[in-house]
Amino acid sequence: MEIYCGSVSESLTGKEVTLSGWCRYIRDHGGKIFVDLADKKGISQVVFDGSLIEKAKSLGREDVIRITGIVRERDEETVDNTNPTGKLEILASELNIINKSETPPFEITEEKERFLAGEEIRLKYRYLDLRRSEMIKNIEFRDGITKTARKFFWDNDFLELETPTLIKDTYETGARPFLVPSRIRKGSFYSLPQSPQIYKQLIMVSGLDKYFQVARAFRDEDQREDRQPEFTQIDFEVSFKDEKYIKDLVESLVKKIFTEVLKEKIKTPFVRIRYDDAVRKYGSDKPDLRYGYEVKDITEILQKSGYNIIKRELSSGGRAKAICFKADYNKNGKITRDFMLSVVDYAKVNGLKGLTWLFVEDKHLKSIPESIAQSLNSVENEIISSLDADSGDVIVFAADLDEQLIFEVMGRIRKLIGDKIGKFSSKFSFLWVVDFPLFEADKITKKLKPAHNPFTAPSEEDIGLLETKPEEVRGRQFDLILNGNEVGGGAVRINNADLQLKIFDMIGIKKKEALDTFGFLIEALRYGAPEDCGFAIGLDRFVTVLAGKQSIRDFILFPKTKSFDSPIDGSPTKIDSERLAEDYGLATKNPQ
Ligand code: AMO
Repeated sequence: MEIYCGSVSESLTGKEVTLSGWCRYIRDHGGKIFVDLADKKGISQVVFDGSLIEKAKSLGREDVIRITGIVRERDEETVDNTNPTGKLEILASELNIINKSETPPFEITEEKERFLAGEEIRLKYRYLDLRRSEMIKNIEFRDGITKTARKFFWDNDFLELETPTLIKDTYETGARPFLVPSRIRKGSFYSLPQSPQIYKQLIMVSGLDKYFQVARAFRDEDQREDRQPEFTQIDFEVSFKDEKYIKDLVESLVKKIFTEVLKEKIKTPFVRIRYDDAVRKYGSDKPDLRYGYEVKDITEILQKSGYNIIKRELSSGGRAKAICFKADYNKNGKITRDFMLSVVDYAKVNGLKGLTWLFVEDKHLKSIPESIAQSLNSVENEIISSLDADSGDVIVFAADLDEQLIFEVMGRIRKLIGDKIGKFSSKFSFLWVVDFPLFEADKITKKLKPAHNPFTAPSEEDIGLLETKPEEVRGRQFDLILNGNEVGGGAVRINNADLQLKIFDMIGIKKKEALDTFGFLIEALRYGAPEDCGFAIGLDRFVTVLAGKQSIRDFILFPKTKSFDSPIDGSPTKIDSERLAEDYGLATKNPQ
């Protein structure tokens, strides 16, 4: 019987099995050779003795072999309780060496803490790294979620449709597009889609009213830990529905994923929070609500204090914001003076002039140096009571003229310290952020740009403000947040050509340019566009957070590095200027 190495079980004791796999560990005990044979399901110990010894001696790490033998129980003292097959072994009667392996460039080990090689080399030899059981579990976990999502959409009568990958160069999300030169039309380019957005709107105009796709998206944007230049979305779109339908659908999908893949329960409906409230309370439009730590305004209190540096900032119109953390200062080894000094540096790097931090001891504020707490003496009780602070808590505050900036940095500090403290009220915290502004205004030029993408419909109540107070117009946009990560976003779309042109105009895309770039969409909207809304889950991020892990690269088969290089194939690569010139009309043959 041919089975997986990881499928050897007690019920097979005494039976003959055939296993194929990779020689992970080899031990030569004189008269016997033990090989841990591995495949994607696990590892089994194979014993070679007698006439097979000589052949088995030639085996090296990661050689690929097929063996046949009888399953038997191991001697008591050699049982390995850390391995599900660890009570058994296979006494081999046949050994077929399928292929030899060079010595691997790093050890393929489950002992991550002690022996795991650096990420760069593991990405270069990704196919070897994918032999580790941790990676296999990650990839299977992702597959479980994709499969469940597909089934969910099929069961709900959605069509799985493919939108094109070579498309027109538009500026959908504000990220730089990747361009692909045309060979036939020299000097012309396709663009890789930043998402299937425009095409899924065209699908709705066609009348195919329920679409979904597990879609690749490509964005050349600033690097961040949770971004990849190519990533995957679970993308869908529907006609004749509204935001409630989409949110309910996403919640049902998440529920199904929790029941079937995570085998856990999750409560729906998810909490909803308005964008303004999220920013004001938590300093972020994607707050992590596994902990409280609200941002509080203590401007009026500090104005009465003797803390002059801050008072100067406040007297010229600045505001002061504080957060109180249940930090067990200096007790749990996490929130220490050194850590807090690094937080102060972080605040400065992020644009604040400074950050004050204090801790509470016996109902008193303490600081290093003491002079800060002393300058706050007259308002000490007010600060403690307004922030509900207790012994061991750490209080941080900052003042600035730019209130938006303090919120933003306080939001990041909240996450930094909150994550470090790590006292979470639950494993998963989902929430909907709603009522986003439709536009963001540039701080200096005041130029408007879309807060998400230019296709989001303005909130019906706010349409009247488009002319007069565009920054106050809310968009019919909603984001799904999980543990402080934006894992999905969607919106009701503009389905009226004139309104779409108006929005383009407001963000500085005049009619001619709008028609040149988006003419095909505008035209489609004039041929009977239904009500249209949809959503996309960022699959890579979603899966990573659900697995409780940090790096999206661990859940992508062949990811790019933080600097968007592809170590496995060495791309991006330089292309010969002759080829660029001849095949694509892109460069001169002999650049000077
Ligand atoms: P959005 O741009 O918000 O919306 O993208 C949807 C989700 O995709 C994920 N995401 C990313 N994941 C990894 N690397 C990236 N570079 C990256 N960029 C985004 C995020 C995000 O929430 N067309 C719209 C969706 C719609 O309105 O239907 C769109 O693409 O988790």
